[in-house]
Amino acid sequence: MKKVFKILLFTALGLLLIIGLGLTYISVALPNIGPPPDIQVEITPERVERGKYLAWHVMMCAECHGKRDFSILTGPPIPGSEFGGGEVFDQSLGLPGSFISPNITPYGIGHWTDGELFRLITTGVKPDGNPIFPIMPFPNYGKMDKEDIKSVIAYLRTLEPIEKDHPPSRADFPMNFIMRTIPQEAEFNPKPPRNDLIAYGKYLFDAAACGDCHTNFDKGQFIGPTAGGGREFLFPDGSIVRSPNLTPHITGLGKFTKESFVSRFKMYADTSISLPEVGPGDFQTIMPWTMYAGMKTEDLEAIYEYLNSLEPFDNNVQIFMAAN
Ligand code: HEC
Ligand code: HEC
Repeated sequence: MKKVFKILLFTALGLLLIIGLGLTYISVALPNIGPPPDIQVEITPERVERGKYLAWHVMMCAECHGKRDFSILTGPPIPGSEFGGGEVFDQSLGLPGSFISPNITPYGIGHWTDGELFRLITTGVKPDGNPIFPIMPFPNYGKMDKEDIKSVIAYLRTLEPIEKDHPPSRADFPMNFIMRTIPQEAEFNPKPPRNDLIAYGKYLFDAAACGDCHTNFDKGQFIGPTAGGGREFLFPDGSIVRSPNLTPHITGLGKFTKESFVSRFKMYADTSISLPEVGPGDFQTIMPWTMYAGMKTEDLEAIYEYLNSLEPFDNNVQIFMAAN
């Protein structure tokens, strides 16, 4: 009996030692993706224009790094807050920590080198070697065309500084360790030619991280087919919104023609129509419609073509559940 107890004790101590060594390894050695690239991003008018389009209307830097006003339908950013940071993604939204978008105007990141910015955007690793939480879709950005990333950097350099500081992000245990295993070396892909509509649409769909929201997700993992919908998002008041199916099934994209798909976005482009206020229990969404509304019609059409090329998936999602 005594012997059995001893064996159990040693096994338990051994396991603790292994776990301890594992966590030490993770916190010292990871992420391991090499130094920032030695690059100098030349600021050209073409890059600034392309970067502005991507940062505002495709890659959503402006919206996430601004303050969204969720008292209004679709939670548009408060005008003037864009890029100044301060949006909070925390436990009240069901997240494993409190993540606060930093100021990415020159006031916040002006002293970063182009290489440090490039590495952060494409791998999620900060200049001090620590990772950021992947609510920012850096795994997607790391699969884009390098030239597009350089355009975003060129545009960020032209922003007016906004003098605002925010508290640092803090991940809960065990996410603080798991986060360190996420950054991967970027694997860039050339932007497909515009006449290859499906590939071009996929490129935009990934750059805009549509799939992050429109693919079902549970316990830290994507579990459904891409764009199959069903991912749940919690609002601080306890209401839940779920992403609809975007595959070409009658429960999804099948409800749309190319034209009605594009106008579903473009209806938010008319800034003269003011969006209604949202009261307790009213329908609300986290899809940043007003920002995507600025996407070029031909780009939205390409996304439609890509979605239409996917395998149809039967998934009739109940979109909204008010808190009771
Ligand atoms: C879905 C929201 C979201 C989107 C989209 C997003 N970010 Fe972020 N970003 C964040 C959050 C949140 C953090 C902080 C995360 C953390 O510290 O763990 C962050 C961190 C950063 C940082 C690190 C800054 C610092 O001081 O540590 C930079 C730089 C940055 N983002 C740039 C960008 C750029 C450029 C884009 C667009 C190409 C972008 N982000 C898109 C949410 C987002
Ligand atoms: C932050 C999460 C999020 C992102 C990013 C996002 N969506 Fe959505 N989307 C939603 C949610 C939630 C809804 C359901 C509520 C609503 O209609 O706004 C929705 C609704 C939609 C609808 C309406 C479908 C219907 O049946 O009425 C379309 C179309 C759509 N999204 C396409 C896209 C595309 C294309 C992208 C990328 C360019 C995208 N979404 C990015 C969360 C997101």
